[in-house]
Amino acid sequence: ESLRNLLQKMPKAELHIHIEGSLEPELIFALAKRNGVALRYASVDELRRAYAFTDLQSFLDIYYAGASVLLHEQDFYDMTLAYLQRAHADNVRHAEIFFDPQTHTERGVAFSTVIDGIHRALDDAKRHWGMSGALIMCFLRHLPEEDALATLEQAIPHRAKFIGVGLDSSERGHPPEKFARVFARCKELGLHLVAHAGEEGPPDYIRSALDVLHVERIDHGVRCLEDAALTRRLAEQRVPLTVCPLSNIKLRVFDRLADHNLLKLLEAGLLVTVNSDDPAYFGGYVNDNFLRMFEALPLGREQARLLARNSFVASFLDEAAKRKLL
Ligand code: ADE
Ligand code: ZN
Repeated sequence: ESLRNLLQKMPKAELHIHIEGSLEPELIFALAKRNGVALRYASVDELRRAYAFTDLQSFLDIYYAGASVLLHEQDFYDMTLAYLQRAHADNVRHAEIFFDPQTHTERGVAFSTVIDGIHRALDDAKRHWGMSGALIMCFLRHLPEEDALATLEQAIPHRAKFIGVGLDSSERGHPPEKFARVFARCKELGLHLVAHAGEEGPPDYIRSALDVLHVERIDHGVRCLEDAALTRRLAEQRVPLTVCPLSNIKLRVFDRLADHNLLKLLEAGLLVTVNSDDPAYFGGYVNDNFLRMFEALPLGREQARLLARNSFVASFLDEAAKRKLL
């Protein structure tokens, strides 16, 4: 069996996927038409041509514009089911999915519209494909902590529909410390905690995500290697990193896949996983991330099996569910 085949066929979990980042240009145009929303782009091709990013912020501007076509519960359902179907084709057995309620509530869409549509698609994926899914609600870090606290209040009646919280959007200038109070509240509620850190931001943001927010996983985290003591700590404490190779190239964290530090992270003994981040914007779903990373770096079957295993180990599945999938 070829390495390619192994990567495609191996059962895996995806732990870093923003559902709004799975919205394909075709679906953006279909929803714009269905909802009578005007777009700044004349065609699918023109929109796709705008996906030439120079950094995280240049991507986020287009990503939030794309999400503006989402108005009704069915829109959130259609987006989520499309992702889950695509992930099923990549043999994703379990997905922990980020959603950004503030992107929608700021536009006047009700919190319940967002979470009910997304959650109904998770139920259907379980029934259709036996695939499990769980939601992680992200706070937008470019907005004030008060807004995050208000979002958490809106989420409480829906507590059973999500398993944790995360922190995303513009990293630089918005350190984890800014969200200390809201994360403390989430911890009291028994929610799982994760945060984007060390994508564009410095290793110190990874340290404060651990020490101040008490997160269980770091999203991206690739800049940890700039700090040897931090790297040792992440390895010793088995803190998972949800790495997204194609994202890192599109957002210019690394120039080329051959320059990516994924192999160095593995060699440092870190619990690394491979994920797609925003697959509709970055040129590929999770298997594309595996295939292209394995073409660019000297990685083999042993690492393929390790990364698949890590994806389940790093997940928030309970131990019995993990044992079944490992
Ligand atoms: N929101 C969606 N994708 C993101 C990323 N890679 N970093 C920060 N915020 C995001
Ligand atoms: Zn992300």
